[in-house]
Amino acid sequence: MTVYKVAVVPGDGIGPEVMNEAVRVLNRVSELDGSFSFEFTTYPWGCEYYLEHGEMMPEDGIETLKQYDAILLGAVGYPGVPDHISLRDLLLRIRHDFDEYVNLRPVKLLKGAQCPLEGVKPEDVDMIFVRENSEGEYAGSGAWLYPNSPQEVVIQNGVFSRKGCERVIRYAYELARKEGRKLTSVSKGNALNYSMVFWDQIFEEVGRDYPDVQTDKLLVDAASMFMVKNPSRFGVIVTSNLFGDILTDLGAAIAGGMGLAAGANLNPERTFPSMFEPIHGSAPDIAGKGIANPLASVWAASQLLDFFGYENWGKKIIDTIETMLVNKDTLTPDQGGTASCEECGTRVCELLG
Ligand code: NAD
Ligand code: IPM
Ligand code: MN
Repeated sequence: MTVYKVAVVPGDGIGPEVMNEAVRVLNRVSELDGSFSFEFTTYPWGCEYYLEHGEMMPEDGIETLKQYDAILLGAVGYPGVPDHISLRDLLLRIRHDFDEYVNLRPVKLLKGAQCPLEGVKPEDVDMIFVRENSEGEYAGSGAWLYPNSPQEVVIQNGVFSRKGCERVIRYAYELARKEGRKLTSVSKGNALNYSMVFWDQIFEEVGRDYPDVQTDKLLVDAASMFMVKNPSRFGVIVTSNLFGDILTDLGAAIAGGMGLAAGANLNPERTFPSMFEPIHGSAPDIAGKGIANPLASVWAASQLLDFFGYENWGKKIIDTIETMLVNKDTLTPDQGGTASCEECGTRVCELLG
């Protein structure tokens, strides 16, 4: 029996609600399989913890998480703690310190999911984003000079290293080759004359090793337009940290909403634990009501199973979500249903068995 040690950081708002269901689904899968199991340890880090202790996680939080095979994260951020503190000191810190440089975000319209685009069928929306996740616009480099004076200046640098660009772009080429899909690089070299010109150059350089992979290059503004007008032109997409963040919320919107959008923060070398999470936030507007959709977290749990090599189970979870959407079976209000978060998670477990 293989035992996977998984740290759970439910975080804030609806984070704990949806994490409960992801954990239940993983336990159900391990029960059904019988060859592996999970040992979950929950850490109460987040905004409430901050208000009590003055920090988002203990000083040795990263050291603590290092011993795990993977991390499940709910959501971080809540009114009362400035977002730039809560997110930088917890979520972004984990992504950075564990060198989770690939953020893999599927944008796949399942049958039965609501798509706001007219005439678009499930087979038209099937993309996978490879978002750079360790540097770029999120590097946290900059300065705030002469605060509260007429000379006040703020500088936010984008940091694009050769190593950082090459490795994520290579990962995307490998994925496109493996999946037999087209690879689109999304950048903005016409305006960002250092970072994005460099990105485009590296996309071409790395591409020389992949003559068999069909490629495309788009400016980010045009890419947003095509995601709405012609989503079927996309397969694998590789892009920078900020562009990937924005485009995947757009992706969520065309693939059934935030309640269905998941992401894996991968350290492909497995030197450090990878982290799996829904891409939505803490949703303060519905927190505590028990109506959050847990399926994004359940989808993230399927990515965890894929990462450990149980792709059969990963696929079974996605098929189960699809069956529920098609049958309008035990869905939460964001999907037009009346079920609670817990009822929805319970139904996933039932259907898996
Ligand atoms: P949000 O994703 O929390 O919410 C946007 C909208 O989507 C809301 O109307 C919300 O009700 C809805 N929604 C989100 N997830 C849902 C779910 N599972 N089921 C049903 N409806 C859902 O984004 P926001 O309001 O911009 O951010 C709220 C807080 O979360 C902020 O502090 C923000 O910084 C933080 N945030 C954290 C993460 C993360 O931890 N990964 C991601 C995004 C935002
Ligand atoms: C996401 C979130 C985070 C990001 C925020 C909360 C820092 O929006 O995971 O998409 O921008 O990466
Ligand atoms: Mn985001």
